[in-house]
Amino acid sequence: MSMSRFDFPPGFIFGAATAAYQIEGSGFGGCGPCHWDTFAATPGNVIRAEDGSVACDHYHRWPEDLDLISAAHMDGYRFSTSWARVMPDGVSVNPEGLDFYDRLVDGMLARGLKPFQTLYHWEMPSALADKGGWTNRDTCARFADFSEAITRRLGDRVAAIATINEPWCVAWLSHFMGIHAPGLRDIRAAARAMHHILLAHGMAVERLRGMGQPNLGIVLNFDHAQPATDGAEDRLAADRWDGIFNRWFIEGITRQTYPEIVLEGLGPHMPDRWQDDMAVIGQKLDWLGVNYYTRHLNAHDPSAAWPHLRDVDGELPKTQMGWEIYPEGLYGFLTRMARDYVGDLPIYVTENGMANADELQDGAVADKVREDFLFAHLAATQRAITDGANVKGFFYWSLLDNYEWAVGYEKRFGLVHVDYKSLARTPKSSYHALARALTRND
Ligand code: FCB
Repeated sequence: MSMSRFDFPPGFIFGAATAAYQIEGSGFGGCGPCHWDTFAATPGNVIRAEDGSVACDHYHRWPEDLDLISAAHMDGYRFSTSWARVMPDGVSVNPEGLDFYDRLVDGMLARGLKPFQTLYHWEMPSALADKGGWTNRDTCARFADFSEAITRRLGDRVAAIATINEPWCVAWLSHFMGIHAPGLRDIRAAARAMHHILLAHGMAVERLRGMGQPNLGIVLNFDHAQPATDGAEDRLAADRWDGIFNRWFIEGITRQTYPEIVLEGLGPHMPDRWQDDMAVIGQKLDWLGVNYYTRHLNAHDPSAAWPHLRDVDGELPKTQMGWEIYPEGLYGFLTRMARDYVGDLPIYVTENGMANADELQDGAVADKVREDFLFAHLAATQRAITDGANVKGFFYWSLLDNYEWAVGYEKRFGLVHVDYKSLARTPKSSYHALARALTRND
């Protein structure tokens, strides 16, 4: 299957996505420590205890990386601005950090790329992590301060701002499942983080909108919840997973309520008077970002505590992460968001991609499987548009192979291969295929 930009409405934005900690190198430019540095330094959390101190050295190599984006005829670039780089102690501003993002944004504009900024892609300054991070309500106010400081510098030039990347990962994966920093497995901490991350979003939107900043959104991730069998218990298990993963955040924002099926478990652990925050959380969005990777088969597990869930292995082809390839899920979420939650609001696919065990051979990387993955998900997006979802853009995850959090540098998601010894970049065949699809012939 192959597609071109002409299969999409005029003005549709094609781009690639990255995140600060995963590519920049946190050891440079006066960046402060963040909770990922300490999480990685604790045995057992990250494969080979790898961290983001050098990563892809994007901090120094950003011009080459931006050149790669524009040479593929992309229209936009989704990047994040690290809180720990801009505010190393969580409070005071590091001018070198602001200068770096200033150069980066100007570099995008000079290449005709629309800057899509994310404010929080997980670089919680250690000084704030010490005070409880997202379990502490005060962190929300600190986040609004950070949002203001960085926006005062970049806000005149960015095309769009997302407050938070993937609240589900920030809250559930990191405080209930213990897989990401800060690595907690605690339902009380999880309930607080589930609420505070949305409060931080709402407070930041309020602050930025008050400054006259346009185009404010949030990036949510979604996981197709499928019952492992047709039995009533497994269907209920999938509904619980759907509630925790797919409904909590969007319903908090668009309906100012949380799903009952999740409050059944989290209710007793929520912060006092959380209901009073729902109006702030429900700030109007200008756009919604959808990240989508895979589906899960959910079974009821009576021996486990709430949410009584067990994963069942699925039969579809899998990526290097072991994630099933299921483009239909992307179609499902794009149309569901439009139908049930956001109507005509612009939606962007802010992440979609796959890890593959790519190998550099004779100076090239053949990753046909990624090409197929990409075009199948573009086709699903295009079908969702035809069926009424107002999707305005698609950002592939990721531009570069990078630091994939708890699995270190082992899983390669990039359109561009990175040799972690020499830091040389080599565009893969998927990069060239996308570049061909995006050529304008003018
Ligand atoms: C998402 C994250 C991104 C990357 C991809 C594979 O959950 O936003 O940083 O790790 O998954």
